[in-house]
Amino acid sequence: MDRRFIFAIVLFAAVATSSTDNTNTDDFIIRQVVDNEEDHLLNAEHHFTSFKSKFSKSYSTKEEHDYRFGVFKSNLIKAKLHQKLDPTAEHGITKFSDLTASEFRRQFLGLKKRLRLPAHAQKAPILPTTNLPEDFDWREKGAVTPVKDQGSCGSCWAFSTTGALEGAHYLATGKLVSLSEQQLVDCDHVCDPEQAGSCDSGCNGGLMNNAFEYLLQSGGVVQEKDYAYTGRDGSCKFDKSKVVASVSNFSVVSLDEEQIAANLVKNGPLAVGINAAWMQTYMSGVSCPYVCAKSRLDHGVLLVGFGKGAYAPIRLKEKPYWIVKNSWGQNWGEQGYYKICRGRNVCGVDSMVSTVAAAQSNN
Ligand SMILES: *[C@@H]1O[C@H](CO)[C@@H](O)[C@H](O)[C@H]1NC(C)=O
Repeated sequence: MDRRFIFAIVLFAAVATSSTDNTNTDDFIIRQVVDNEEDHLLNAEHHFTSFKSKFSKSYSTKEEHDYRFGVFKSNLIKAKLHQKLDPTAEHGITKFSDLTASEFRRQFLGLKKRLRLPAHAQKAPILPTTNLPEDFDWREKGAVTPVKDQGSCGSCWAFSTTGALEGAHYLATGKLVSLSEQQLVDCDHVCDPEQAGSCDSGCNGGLMNNAFEYLLQSGGVVQEKDYAYTGRDGSCKFDKSKVVASVSNFSVVSLDEEQIAANLVKNGPLAVGINAAWMQTYMSGVSCPYVCAKSRLDHGVLLVGFGKGAYAPIRLKEKPYWIVKNSWGQNWGEQGYYKICRGRNVCGVDSMVSTVAAAQSNN
């Protein structure tokens, strides 16, 4: 597959549930509770009860309930399989466990392909990589806002975009300000000039590079609190007088993990595309699946750091990883975060990486 043939991202969404996480999560780790098919069947009812309570799920009819229980049972088996094929992570019951794979894809992933980069996207200059730290985390430096929740709306691309600009704005001004995704959802309809129909389109998906292009054209973005997230497509209510952060330029980082790390350290968190195939069942740990297509990017997220890795007994070595901020709420993954291994472009995480610089704003 031609590398320039970049796939557009889009979203995912969580079946919005923001219950506080006071359940013992060990209970949700399939590896420990489902040793064989019989155990799985014996425990399924118990797990489904905990699942409904933990994620505040309710179903309107008995038929729906029974159907969801069936889906849940097949997701227990899927999680068990994922656990086998991705042993350094923990896979199990998540808030997506009552969705079929096709529902998950259809409702919460969108895919657009595009052939060209937007007019203002340039290639990031090659940076020196000799003095890169082994561990680095923008969260510790105050450049990352709390994890947000896109809900049932294909707007991951908007969250990835605001996350990158929030970091860049922090670097430029010293202030961490939460920025409005809804402005992008409602107002950004930037299209690929070369490809009819490939436009940012709210809950139906978009692309971070298009969104940076939009931010250059619009003059910037307002604060989250001035243009609150609804998780639905709406008419544009952008008030230019309230712009708090704006883009000065953005660029595309080469497919090289050292360059990605160097750009992250120098410019702040990076907007990246990823293949989300393993994320429906992910709970914690470093995800390093044996198989994950690099070209099927379907989700937009934010790289905020990297680590040299913890000892992973199952593979007898340290697993270096990227720290990924997701937008499915804090009740998914590691308090809303995902760790994915570095080193071989797993799930295409190195394939679509953008870095942005914020203008010094006087607001
Ligand atoms: C912005 O442009 C400057 C000057 O061309 C360049 O050095 C810098 O790398 C660019 N930053 C980003 C994030 O693209």
